[in-house]
Amino acid sequence: MSIVTFEDKENFPLETNKPGATILETALKHDYPLYHLCGGNAKCTTCRVFITEGLDHLSHRNDREQTLADRKGWPSEIRLACQTEVFGDVSLRRIIKDNKDLKTVTSESKSSKTGEECYAVILFLDIKGFTAFTEASLPYDVVFVLNRFFQEMSEPILNNGGGIDKFIGDGILAFFQIKNKDQLKTATEESLKEAKRETIHSAIRACLRMFDQLKNSI
Ligand code: FES
Repeated sequence: MSIVTFEDKENFPLETNKPGATILETALKHDYPLYHLCGGNAKCTTCRVFITEGLDHLSHRNDREQTLADRKGWPSEIRLACQTEVFGDVSLRRIIKDNKDLKTVTSESKSSKTGEECYAVILFLDIKGFTAFTEASLPYDVVFVLNRFFQEMSEPILNNGGGIDKFIGDGILAFFQIKNKDQLKTATEESLKEAKRETIHSAIRACLRMFDQLKNSI
């Protein structure tokens, strides 16, 4: 017999006598509320749980779960209850507990934007004394100067492999990311360092070019 303990405001220990029953099966057998919108087919991720104890007493991720975990960047403690079989005592927490959580998950999968971890150099620049300048200038002049500034400063960023995340008021938020990110998953430590150095150099080259542009425009 194994005990699957759902940790909530209080603990809910659920027994299962069937080795290899999934966490979802165990929960449903005891009428414990666990979302499973796709019916246990590893498609919706609403059944995901966080394992707090007993990870060794669970089956390894199968291909379907592994694909989702890789895509979403889950740590090993996050498991799909519908795919995970229980072979011993385990404690866990539900991740999707109410309709608000559910809404977040469904909008996540619609946009498929769940965030991404990466190495990047972030560059932010804006115009010194811009507020005073706007107060003393005509609106037309302000817009003209801003457009010119964005144009002149964007070029060095883009020409050096950077990207522009957004324009914020009189500022530019830009980023430089490691090239060939996918290859770097299997890269050696040395080549990773080299790739990081190259990313920093790209950002520095962009900054130097910006100084030139500014000098030439004044
Ligand atoms: S119930 Fe949909 S992924 Fe588990």
